[in-house]
Amino acid sequence: MNPHATALSAPRGSDGSVRSFAHDAIAGLTHHPKQLPPKYFYDSAGSELFEQITRLPEYYPTRTELGILRDQSAQIASIIPAHAVLVEFGAGAPTKARLLLTAREFAAYVPVDISGDFLNAQADGLRKDFPHLEIHPVTTDFTAPFLLPDQVRAMPKVGFFPGSTLGNFEPHEASRFLRGARDILGEGAHMLIGVDLEKKERRMYEAYNDAAGVTARFNLNILARVNRELGGNFDLSAFAHRAIYNRDRHRIEMYLVSKKPQTARLQGRSFFFRTGESIHTESSYKYSIDRFNALAKGSGWTPIAAWTDPEQMFSVHALVC
Ligand code: AVJ
Repeated sequence: MNPHATALSAPRGSDGSVRSFAHDAIAGLTHHPKQLPPKYFYDSAGSELFEQITRLPEYYPTRTELGILRDQSAQIASIIPAHAVLVEFGAGAPTKARLLLTAREFAAYVPVDISGDFLNAQADGLRKDFPHLEIHPVTTDFTAPFLLPDQVRAMPKVGFFPGSTLGNFEPHEASRFLRGARDILGEGAHMLIGVDLEKKERRMYEAYNDAAGVTARFNLNILARVNRELGGNFDLSAFAHRAIYNRDRHRIEMYLVSKKPQTARLQGRSFFFRTGESIHTESSYKYSIDRFNALAKGSGWTPIAAWTDPEQMFSVHALVC
């Protein structure tokens, strides 16, 4: 028997992900105001709820970005070098990558995400449709530095960061991410980034306050996950979903608001909530083309093209470094 069996069976991934979840959850709930990092939304239940969000009538970003990628695929393909590797940061379902892989011949696809089981399952589906494509999933937190697989080191690099995931980052984090991506991909790399655009407030508000309540369930799932994985005792029925648009900071803010005075426990610690006290669970920044270009330029990249839909709801940017 493996002498390390006890340690190995501890509930954590090989990268220590459960321990960092515990650490981040406790740090966030100790912080004033209370907060939890949005990257923890995406366990398998949360990823499934997010897939449901992308199909909601109110949630325009996913279908709008897909429309841009489809409508502009020839233009996008024309700036991508031949036989490149497509490195997707925070890869979920490869629906968007498929459009690029169809529009241009890539030598390899490297989906990078913290949720390894989901990645591997998706890669298997992709292998059937792109038999000549090398697929090398990398299971890691893509916001930290990582090495590309050896097999793709010599290929031209194209980074892909769709879905306005960049919007979850604070401006300084977005800049750090872009610099980090440049370090990972190397000099001369291209990057394609999908960014949600600032627009009429009602449109943005409704996208995060859908009539079917899926976004509320998605938001509350982070507490369900704290309970499941960290042994917390949060009463989900005692928290309400709240999403508002903060004009000054150009961002949607999501909160879980305590409906009553209550105490939740987590790993031997107690967290008290006043009525109306909230946990800030997500910020979703909205950009203008100019503000995004300024961010890219300040982070070591040169903007070379930007495409939008006819209603200017969403944007896809091409950068080079
Ligand atoms: C995946 C971060 C782009 O901000 O729109 C959707 C996540 N949160 N509904 C977004 C999300 C609530 C989404 N991103």
